[in-house]
Amino acid sequence: MTASNEKPRLLTGDTPTGRLHLGHYAGSIENRLAMQDDYDCYFLIANVHALTTRSEEVAGIREDTIEIVRDWMACGIDPNRSALFLQSEVPAIAELTWYFAMILGYGRLMKNPTVKDEIRVKNLGDNYSFGFLMYPVGQIADILAFRPDVVPVGEDQVPHIEMTREIARRFDQLYCGVSGQTDDADYVKEGGVFPIPAAKTGRVARLTGIDGVNKMSKSLGNAILLSDTPKEVQKKCNKIFTGRGTMEDPPVMENNTVIEYLRSFHTDQSRVDELVDAYSKSELGDGHLKKEAAEAINTLLDPIRERREKITDADVVDALREGTKRANAVAEKTLWMAKQAMKYDFFERGLELR
Ligand code: TRP
Repeated sequence: MTASNEKPRLLTGDTPTGRLHLGHYAGSIENRLAMQDDYDCYFLIANVHALTTRSEEVAGIREDTIEIVRDWMACGIDPNRSALFLQSEVPAIAELTWYFAMILGYGRLMKNPTVKDEIRVKNLGDNYSFGFLMYPVGQIADILAFRPDVVPVGEDQVPHIEMTREIARRFDQLYCGVSGQTDDADYVKEGGVFPIPAAKTGRVARLTGIDGVNKMSKSLGNAILLSDTPKEVQKKCNKIFTGRGTMEDPPVMENNTVIEYLRSFHTDQSRVDELVDAYSKSELGDGHLKKEAAEAINTLLDPIRERREKITDADVVDALREGTKRANAVAEKTLWMAKQAMKYDFFERGLELR
């Protein structure tokens, strides 16, 4: 926890590799909205990390950057309360990345299950860039630059937060003289620069995509986007694979993605109980459940759509400019604290955004 008179701090972010989808919403956005009043919030667009897989698509990264921030604001992330900012314009993050890279073992990084998964799922083989391996180190710096208490993320990001916690402990022990016996909650009290931040996963840690098999993901083409039209949502719901071969087969009740969506997004769960019961007895078919799932999702998305309409590109850039200024003020201060601890505090500097 930061000083007792201040709100605890929260940081998280999204990589601009496409628009936000329902998996992001249930896994993380919902937590951010619920916590926005009680936490000092920082939301980062990981536009440097986006280059790990899109180094030749900078126009696409720029477009997704704008659209994700528009999605955030449409969902209710409020730039007057929270800082919305660009990773590329906070140089303290890049500097901290170097220092953290020096105290993170190469072997430890390669054991990170999310890194291993990405190499496998994206078929990278051994053809990934040096920067690809740097991004988890960069993510440690994204987080620790803000000295947050909590980091709301999807389940797949938890290994990165675990590595962040290890590096925070190591830095505090190495350069601030904090004892290795210290409880995680007491690192700052014992003189450490960095608190040991906690991951917070969402209500739905892993949402299945409309293929009925894989985690919802833009790159797998199985996602329902927050920016999809009502028609698109209905069309995508109609395509959900429910595990049934033909309609003559009995309904599949286990791991059925339509039921998962109804459970995750319908506001009236007793109605869902009725639907599931009738479905299990084949009184209702896949088509009916899909229709009600699409309606439930559209009920969630309608107010978001309405707000999105009114958010101009200029609104987005203004929010980012203000948020990035606030983010720099915090990150520069953290970097200075880290440099003091490392005895690199020869002279201070200022930063200006225009
Ligand atoms: N790697 C995260 C993702 O792809 C995005 C991210 C970058 C992030 N930096 C972060 C998330 C810091 C939480 C905290 O979803």
